[in-house]
Amino acid sequence: MRILGIESSCDETAASVVEGDRALSDVIASQIAIHRPYGGVVPELASRNHIVKIVPVIEEALSRAGSKLEDIDGVAATAGPGLVGSLVVGLQVAKTIAAARGLPFVGVNHLAGHILAARMADGFAPRPEFPYMALLASGGHTGIYLVEDESRISCLGETRDDAAGEAFDKVAKLLGLGYPGGPIIDRLAAGEGPAVEFPSALRRRTSFEFSFSGVKTAVAQHVARLGRRPDQVEITAIARGFQRAVIEILVRKVVLAARQKQVPRVVLAGGVAANVGLRRHAIEVCGENDLELYAPPTSRCTDNASMIAYAGLLALTRGDRSPLDLAPRAAWPL
Ligand code: KG4
Ligand code: ZN
Repeated sequence: MRILGIESSCDETAASVVEGDRALSDVIASQIAIHRPYGGVVPELASRNHIVKIVPVIEEALSRAGSKLEDIDGVAATAGPGLVGSLVVGLQVAKTIAAARGLPFVGVNHLAGHILAARMADGFAPRPEFPYMALLASGGHTGIYLVEDESRISCLGETRDDAAGEAFDKVAKLLGLGYPGGPIIDRLAAGEGPAVEFPSALRRRTSFEFSFSGVKTAVAQHVARLGRRPDQVEITAIARGFQRAVIEILVRKVVLAARQKQVPRVVLAGGVAANVGLRRHAIEVCGENDLELYAPPTSRCTDNASMIAYAGLLALTRGDRSPLDLAPRAAWPL
């Protein structure tokens, strides 16, 4: 089966052709430069730009896969969760292609796409068997998911407030570092050096919930106490301390969940899973706890369409179909 997948839930317009568990193409038109001056995604601008890019991005994905629309066996698109004005663009184009060509269509949950991405083929990288415990940490969501198989994914706990990526972005904005904040803080935090100590919330709790608004406030208060703009050395120490607090709690909770549910492996997913410090810390802690650890290549952690095409392909193979009057969903818990 060769599936065309389309992703437009936030600020990336993306399309991919997937066959089996392999991406034949994976095209992303990033809107980062458009949203950078605002320090975050502006929904109205995101929608307008999806409209401009969606058809060229699909054409590029087909062409790089050496495919034409006639070679495609089904169409998948992100139906939620996300910004509705963004989702409608990819979803409607996907439904239109399916209707025009008489192809099966399925709406994909963006979170399921992230969580299943680690099972796609990427060179010789090992892939997780089921069951696994997934840590999904992105700009919009942060939670822990028990993945029994491709269609049985249950949420064990989520953030009570900010998503981890959102906290990275807000702290970077506060420090005047630019957007998106995750990769910038990740680079600053690399290597040894002084780190400001910040608290992580719900640390001792045995629940699988997170809270990141406290650490963000702690950073703001630390900067306010300085009474001036921190210098480069201070900014680096703040970034390092903030990142350390966030990744420590993320890894602690997913490992706790895996041990408690007796699941032998952990999977990292979502944009924050691209974080070098997080990946390194997870390797260490999973090693100490006899857990296998899997993380997709960083390009498949951040938003992309191959994960949507792949999740769509699995769903279509199971016989799942979505009606052509499927509406986008701003919220769609797993
Ligand atoms: O999964 P994603 O691309 O989009 C959503 O579904 O939200 O995640 C984007 C988030 C942003 O908040 C971004 O700052 C964060 O992932 N991110 C990172 C890194 N790369 C992206 N956070 C920490 N370290 C990184 N290297
Ligand atoms: Zn995402």
